[in-house]
Amino acid sequence: MSEDKSVTDVCIAGTGSYVPEKILTNEELAQMVDTSDEWIFTRTGIRERRIAADGEFTSHMATHAARRALEQAGMEASELELIIVATITPDTFTPATACYVQQALGSYKAVAFDISAACSGFLYAMKLAKRLISDGAFQNALIIGAEKLSAVTNWQDRSTCVLFGDGAGAAVLRPSKPSEGAILATEMGTDGSLTHLLNIPGGAIACPTTAANVDQNLHTLTMLGKEVFKHAVNRMKDAAEKVITRAGLQPEDIACVIPHQANLRIIDAIADRLAVPNDRVFVNLDRYGNTSAAAVAIALDEAHRTGAFKRGDAIVMVVFGAGLTWAAAAVRW
Ligand code: ACO
Repeated sequence: MSEDKSVTDVCIAGTGSYVPEKILTNEELAQMVDTSDEWIFTRTGIRERRIAADGEFTSHMATHAARRALEQAGMEASELELIIVATITPDTFTPATACYVQQALGSYKAVAFDISAACSGFLYAMKLAKRLISDGAFQNALIIGAEKLSAVTNWQDRSTCVLFGDGAGAAVLRPSKPSEGAILATEMGTDGSLTHLLNIPGGAIACPTTAANVDQNLHTLTMLGKEVFKHAVNRMKDAAEKVITRAGLQPEDIACVIPHQANLRIIDAIADRLAVPNDRVFVNLDRYGNTSAAAVAIALDEAHRTGAFKRGDAIVMVVFGAGLTWAAAAVRW
């Protein structure tokens, strides 16, 4: 899906993130399943991930990240007009996790809903919110990627349990002021012929929650990793190239690429194909693993707060996930 012409430029006015306190290291995982720090690190780049506490839900993490983004944007929660939470691990099927976030923030003026696009959800939300603001439907938006993947992980399956973690990232969007940057171009896509590559088969309507289904771990993530890997590299490269071209950028103009944090080998392959040097590619998956919709949102916040880019710089975000889905955004900060 290509970029629409904007009426008003929209900027990212603030970012925030939150990860749970509990760290689960590769060494600890090696006590639980037949794996090793060496295998996990060399195949994925992951050293450790965060695990939410028992009573800590997706909406709680989302709310922490949201408060930090609002603070940075200098905006009161009561001013918010739109809240979109991207997640595949909602607190409940209904109401949407965004409604719990609205309640926790007291943002009762805001329209609040969730979107489900797996790891691509945060950039899907960005495109949607940007368009709704530029069209004048809303004056601002809070977009959040938040996941408690530990709740849908099969902790006996070494091929998936080493990959995932919990966390949340958020951004506040609003019309740009003259001295500010803008979201320059966005891209998103879906290939529903590949639903079988990555899914949670049970726990919803097609395969309801029964004791037998839970015994077979059908409520947890399953993945054909090698196939996903191949599609991820191709789709992310294409999506990133499209937003770079549409934004009128050259690879050397890009101060920071913020890719989905799933696998360092995928990230390296993307950097190589985009001809962007590795030192301009932001990586934090060594500390958090793959947090699905939260991953690029947490990375954006950390890159911003640690000075990986500054006012006036061009950055590119690019993601892929179950669906399969993919998305990219080029932003002038
Ligand atoms: N520890 C030790 N050995 C393992 C582990 C483990 N944790 N996991 C798998 N192995 C073994 C396998 O059993 C296999 O052994 P065999 O050769 O005897 O059969 C061997 O290691 C190789 O397994 P592969 O699956 O071929 O390993 P690969 O190099 O492809 O790496 C991985 C697997 C890391 C999953 C990789 O394919 C990958 O990252 N794919 C992309 C996944 C992804 O990015 N998903 C993102 C979307 S997530 C979302 O949307 C929620």
